Amino acid sequence: MQLIRLSSDSELSHFDCGDEDLNNFLIEDAKGFLDKRIANSFLLKDEDCIVAYFCLLNDKISKQEVSNSQWKKIRKRFPNEKKFSSYPAIKIGRFAVSNSYRGKNIGSMLMNLIKDTLNSNANYSAFRFITVDAYLSAISFYEKNGFIKLTQKEENPHTCLMFFDLMELQ
Ligand SMILES: CC(C)(COP(=O)(O)OP(=O)(O)OC[C@H]1O[C@@H](n2cnc3c(N)ncnc32)[C@H](O)[C@@H]1OP(=O)(O)O)[C@@H](O)C(=O)NCCC(=O)NCCS
Repeated sequence: MQLIRLSSDSELSHFDCGDEDLNNFLIEDAKGFLDKRIANSFLLKDEDCIVAYFCLLNDKISKQEVSNSQWKKIRKRFPNEKKFSSYPAIKIGRFAVSNSYRGKNIGSMLMNLIKDTLNSNANYSAFRFITVDAYLSAISFYEKNGFIKLTQKEENPHTCLMFFDLMELQ
C-alpha cells in the first residue's frame, strides 16, 4: 500500500466507507479544498483502489469551545506561565476507511502514521495537539487511539470534539 498526497491531477476512483458525506467529500470537494488552501487530503492506495483517506488543516483548541471542567484537561498540561486561552493544533478534518478494509487495523495504523509524521515535522510552525470532530459512532475508535473527549453529547448531538496530545509521543 502507498500513501499519496492528493493533487489536482490525482485520479479518484470509487470510494465507499458507508457514510455519504465522507464519500462525497473525497470525490466532489477534496480538490477544491486543496486549491483554496483549506485542507490537504491524503489517500492510502492499494494499487488503483482507495483503501482510506484523511485530510488535515490547522486548528486550535480554545477555552470558548469547551466547558470549564473540560478546559481544565487542557490547561493542566501547561505550567502557570503558559496558561493561555487557546493552544495550536492540527485538525483531522475527515478520516475514513473503505468498507472492504474495515476492522483490519488500517484505521489505527494510519492514525499512528499521522501522529508520527506530524511529530517529526513540528519544527517550522508549532502545534501541540491533534483534534478531530468525531462522529459519535467512531468515538471508541479514537479512544482506542489515545484521543480524549472534550465535549459532551448535550453540547453537540452529532460529533464530539476530541484531542490527542503530541507530547505523549516523547
Ligand atoms: C472508524 C473507522 C475509521 C475505523 O477504521 P478501521 O480500519 O475499521 O479501524 P481499526 O481496525 O484500526 O479499529 C477498529 C476499532 O475501532 C472501533 N470502531 C469504532 N467505530 C467503528 C466502526 N464504525 N467500524 C469499525 N470499527 C469501529 C472498533 O471497536 C474497533 O475496536 P477493536 O479493534 O478493539 O474491536 C472506520 O470504521 C470508518 O471509516 N468508518 C466510517 C467513517 C467514520 O466514521 N469516520 C470517522 C469520522 S470522525
